[in-house]
Parts: sequence; structure tokens; C-alpha cells
Amino acid sequence: ETVEWDPEEAGKGEYDHFMLKEIDEQPTSLAQALEGRIDPENGRIALADFGPGTFTDVSSVQLVACGTSYHAALYGSLALNQAGIRATALLANEYSAAAPPIDDETLVIAVTQSGETADTLNALRQANADGAETVTVTNVVGSTAAREADETLFIRAGPEIGVAATKTFSSQAVMLTLLAQRIAADRRGEPPADLESLLPALARMPAEIERVLETSDAAAVANRYRGSQSYFFIGRGLGYPVALEGALKFKEITYEHAEGFASGELKHGPLALVTPETPVFAVFTGQEDAKTLNNAEEAQTRGAPLVAVCPDGHPALETADAHLEIPDTEPALAGLLANVQLQLVSYYAADLLGRPIDKPRNLAKSVTVE
Ligand code: AGP
Repeated sequence: ETVEWDPEEAGKGEYDHFMLKEIDEQPTSLAQALEGRIDPENGRIALADFGPGTFTDVSSVQLVACGTSYHAALYGSLALNQAGIRATALLANEYSAAAPPIDDETLVIAVTQSGETADTLNALRQANADGAETVTVTNVVGSTAAREADETLFIRAGPEIGVAATKTFSSQAVMLTLLAQRIAADRRGEPPADLESLLPALARMPAEIERVLETSDAAAVANRYRGSQSYFFIGRGLGYPVALEGALKFKEITYEHAEGFASGELKHGPLALVTPETPVFAVFTGQEDAKTLNNAEEAQTRGAPLVAVCPDGHPALETADAHLEIPDTEPALAGLLANVQLQLVSYYAADLLGRPIDKPRNLAKSVTVE
């Protein structure tokens, strides 16, 4: 008698799905990403991946990526803007049709987990040909994007088998946050002022993710709202890319309709879709939360259940119908803790529906066609 043994399946260990295993790995994968790259005691970033002064001449940054990596790129572009550097995130598949002008002070950052996404490689090649300085932020050593960019920053997340990107998003967003600070420091010749609070918060993050994983009510929330007509995710500032990512993950593995919006955009159209059958997940990062709560309550008034993703004791909890708790941290990082809660909601919602979570229909882990 022979026993079927698939080495890939064996890698799941005690888990039913790679996705949950990879969500659970985030404290470790993030600690690995940060290892030796921050120095909270001396208030310094230590990104030795780049030589001294690599970014001194950078006056603007374009980030190119697709899917989940695009959401990390958007997160990075906002971090750059907040650090005083002009930055735009662009969908790599739109880049050839609509790239902003490049000059010799433009840095183009390709964000790609696999380093093999055709759309992203095309954008990177175009940027190289147009004379931009290029950096790849990737998980895969020896990948095409790593080889073709001037410089590479590895996110060190370890292999990701689930088609739905989880741990790699967290590591991409964190490494881009760090890179934003480094670019700003090179550009100005001195470290940005907010580094003092950011670095210890980064160092605490693996433990905070662990706390989210240990205490999450995501399974109960997924069960409570199963069978809804549509699922909305809203956030503002750094909560916006997280809302987009929450919705992408949800539709990708549950096959249910989900949509992410900037909180303030709800009232400009999408509010017409809101009913008691459309739960709204609101991401609170600590930046302009009162406005986001206002937007969320406008949906709630129309009957939508409100799921607040926020720290304990947050004002949103006075009205929220459900709570996904995150530790209280810097606004620069809070959205990434919220994202872990949203990953879990998608996972449990898909599991309740019996979906093939690690290999959703019609999708591939690495998209090598245009
Ligand atoms: C997200 O869960 C998907 N796997 C997809 O959106 C992915 O992020 C996109 O195809 C880009 O892949 P890359 O990071 O390998 O370039």
C-alpha cells in the first residue's frame, strides 16, 4: 500500500490551511524583517541594505505594484508623504499607459512579493529605461525584479504558499515605512523627528500582533455576519489602504462581494448601497478618528451593522455593533494591527462557506502574464 505524500501539503503541519498558518507566523516573520534593521535604543534606522547617502538626491518617489502589493505600496506612499517626501503609488498595470514624468531625482520602487509579476516587471523596466533610480521590495531572493532593480530590500517573510497574501503584506508595509524614514533622512541629512516614537513601536509590533492573534473575536464576527449581501471596509489616511486590502482579501477567498472605501467617500455615492445587509468594518488608526466615526455612523443610521476595529476604550465602541480589538499604538502602525484582524475575518468567513482557501478559483499565486 502506498501513502500519498505531498511535501507542500505536509508543510501545513497542524493547520487546515496555509493561510491561517501564514497569518499566525506574522509575529515571527515581522521580527525577522526588522532584525538588525532598527536600533530603538539609539533612535536609529540601520538599513544596511543601502549604502550611505543612497537617497540623498531623491526628490520624488513612484511606487508600482499590483493587488495586495499595491495596497502596501499605497501605505508606503502615504508614509513617505508624512515624512515630507513627494510620493505616489501607481498600479503597475496602468503604468505604461499613464506613468507620471520621471527625472533624474525620481526613485521608482517596485513592490512585489514574488518578484515575478509581469505587470510590475514591465513598470520596473520602463522606469529603468527612463533613467529613474530603482529599488525592488520583494520576498524572493534571486527573483527577476530583485535582479533588475538598482537596489533591493528583502522583506524576509519566508515562503508564502497561500494564494492570498497575508504575512508578506505586513512585512512589505513595515519595510516601506522604514524605507520612507531612511529616504527622508538621506534627503534632509538628519533623521525625521518622529523616529523616536516610531522605532520602539516597531519593536513592540511582533508582540502586539501575537496579542491580536491570541484574543481575536474574528471567528465570531465572521459567523455573526455570514450571509450578508455585501461587506464594506472603510478607513482614512493609513487606514485607507488597509480597508482596500481587507476588501480584496475578503472577496478573493470568500467569493462574496466586498468593497473598500476611503471613509469620507461613503457619502459621495457608495452610501446608496448601504442597507442592514451590508456590514461596515471601520478601521481606526488614531488619525482623524472622529471623522471616520462620523462616516461610519452615517452608514449605521441606514441600518448597516458597524464593526469597529480599534483599541479598547475607543469612542467608536459607544455605538459599534461589534468590536475587533487592536493594541493602542502609533497611527503609523495601527492599521497593520487592524489588518491582521481583517485577515482573520476573511479566513473564518471563507472557512464557514467551505471555500478552497489556499487556492481560490481563477487565481494564481504569481501572475506572469500581462
Ligand atoms: C493578493 O492576495 C494576491 N495574491 C495578489 O493581489 C498579489 O498581491 C498580486 O498578484 C501581486 O503579486 P506580487 O506581490 O507577487 O507581485
